Amino acid sequence: MKIFLDTAEIDEIRQATSWGIIDGVTTNPSLIKKAVDKRGSKISMEDYIKEIVKTAPGPVSLEVIGRTSEEMIKQGRFLHERFSPFGEIAVKIPINPSMKEDEELDFDGLKAIKQLSKEGIRVNATLIMTPEQALLAAKAGAAYASPFAGRIDDFIRTKLGMRRGYDFQKEDYLDYELLCKAREKMLNEAMKNAESIREIYENRGVNSLVRQGQDDGIYSGVDLVARILRIYRAYGFKTEVIAASIRNPRQVREVAELGVHIATLPFNVLKGMIKHYKTAEGMRSFMSDVVPQYRALFEEQ
Ligand code: E4P
Repeated sequence: MKIFLDTAEIDEIRQATSWGIIDGVTTNPSLIKKAVDKRGSKISMEDYIKEIVKTAPGPVSLEVIGRTSEEMIKQGRFLHERFSPFGEIAVKIPINPSMKEDEELDFDGLKAIKQLSKEGIRVNATLIMTPEQALLAAKAGAAYASPFAGRIDDFIRTKLGMRRGYDFQKEDYLDYELLCKAREKMLNEAMKNAESIREIYENRGVNSLVRQGQDDGIYSGVDLVARILRIYRAYGFKTEVIAASIRNPRQVREVAELGVHIATLPFNVLKGMIKHYKTAEGMRSFMSDVVPQYRALFEEQ
C-alpha cells in the first residue's frame, strides 16, 4: 500500500519524507489555505508549490478551482505544464463540480477527467462519496479516485443526530460494528410480532430503522472504499483508489485490510500510527535492563 501525505505543509512533507515511508502528497484548496494562513499573504504560491513538488518523493495532487469543463481542462493543463518539470503531478478534478444537487455542471468533472487523461495528464478524481461516482471516474480514465471516507463517517453520524465537535470529534473512529449490532437489535424488536414478510417490508418503523446509520447503502467510509475496490476489481479498472479524508489510524488499518492502493493521511494520523502504550513501556523496561557488559559492546565501536 502506498502512503500519501494529505497536507500542503512543507515541513510536514520534509519530515515524513525523512522517515522513508511516504510515496506522494495530496493537497486541496483548504489545505493550501491553512499553509497561507500560517505564513501570511505575501507567500509566493508558485515558489511554494514548486518546493512541495521538489520535496515530495512521488506525485503531488493539485486541485483545479474552475467549475466548467473548459476551465478545469485549462487549469489542469496549466498545473501540469507549470509544475511537472519539478516532479510528478496529478491534477485533482472534482467528480461533480456542482454546488447544488440540481445544477447543470453535473458532468463537467467527468468531461475534464476524460480530456486531461486522454492528453496523458494523470487525474485524481476527488470528492467521491459513492461507488457510482467512482465507477464513472474510472470509465472517464482517472488515474486515481479519492473516496472521502471521513466525510462519509461524519455524514452518517450527522444523520443520526450527532454533532461534530459536541457528540463526536473529527478524529473519532466510527464504530461501524456497533452501529450494525444496534440496528439489528432494534430491527429484531420491531419485527417481533409481524405475521408476514410483507408486513415487515412495508412497516414504516422498520423502514426508518433500516435507513438509520447509513447513506444509501453505504455503512461507513471504509465500507465506501470496500465497495469501490470490489467494483474496480470486478472489471479490472486500472484506476487506483486513494482512501482520502482519513481521520484516525484505525481507519488506515481497515483500508489496508481491504488492499486499497493508496491512503492519503494527515500528518497527525501518520504520527499516531507508530504509537502504542506497550511499545513505550517495553522500551523503558529494555533500557533499564541494559547491563554494563552489553553497553560496552557498543562503546568499543
Ligand atoms: C484528499 O485528497 C482530500 O482532499 C482530503 O483527504 C480531505 O480530507 P478532510 O475531509 O479531512 O478535509
